[in-house]
Amino acid sequence: RIVYVNGEYLPEDQARVSVFDRGFLFADGVYEVTSVIDGKLVDFPGHAARLERSLAELDMPSPMTSGELLAIHRELVARNDVTEGMVYLQITRGAPADRDFVFPDPAETPQTVVLFTQSKGLVDSPAAQTGLKVISIPDIRWGRRDIKTVQLLYPSVGKMMARRAGADDAWMVEDGFVTEGTSNNAYIVKDGRIITRQLGNEILHGITRAAVLAFAREAQMQVEERPFTIEEAQAADEAFITSASTFVMPVVSVDGVALGDGKPGPVARRLREIYIEQSR
Ligand code: PDD
Repeated sequence: RIVYVNGEYLPEDQARVSVFDRGFLFADGVYEVTSVIDGKLVDFPGHAARLERSLAELDMPSPMTSGELLAIHRELVARNDVTEGMVYLQITRGAPADRDFVFPDPAETPQTVVLFTQSKGLVDSPAAQTGLKVISIPDIRWGRRDIKTVQLLYPSVGKMMARRAGADDAWMVEDGFVTEGTSNNAYIVKDGRIITRQLGNEILHGITRAAVLAFAREAQMQVEERPFTIEEAQAADEAFITSASTFVMPVVSVDGVALGDGKPGPVARRLREIYIEQSR
């Protein structure tokens, strides 16, 4: 596989990042995951805009324009023959000479920019047929989840808690309400209404979320942006998650309680179809 590191396209085993990189030592970096369908990037402008916002919120300069970033995305997709999968992009505050909690001067420490691709079947996912089982776990992440940082230890631990409990993923709960999934936004459907938490610092502003809610509204579906509880989810007709790597994925049980008939629901299936069709 060919990866991109700081201006160079290299075979993955020749790519190098410093041990002093602040992404490695402090999780001082931001990232984006853009999906690829039929060799084309899905919603690149949305991801580029969120990246700009994440960088600005952390006082990091933009290392290049979104046009330049787009060109690198396309080049990697072409060089690695990706027809379906994703492009991962990470920008960190770079590698100063010494480990120091104080941010280095950006003029003296260039940022580290890394991109790589992962080929993976996303459209014909078996999980879309069966649906996911989720468990609830407390949300103990930091308070700026709207910034897409590479601090992913707790989401990773949460996914493992789900796996050990015989489930697929975890929904995180704060002050009695679901925030989001470990790497996705969370939704329930009750009496035809789609309910998902409103935007704020408590969740990542999903690019897939924005697209799916727009498609739902265009299709005359009712959308309520407000918090919901695990009890409300367990009493819902259906549920689903969204992310760049799963698109729309049905959820069929919450903490062991089956939703509806325990199969993927019609709203989730329809939104998945619409999303994939519109992304082609
Ligand atoms: N995760 N919430 C969290 C905590 C996420 O990590 C993600 C994405 C989302 C959905 O955002 P989007 O629709 O823009 O992908 C919501 C990516 C896919 C990841 O970490 O792999």
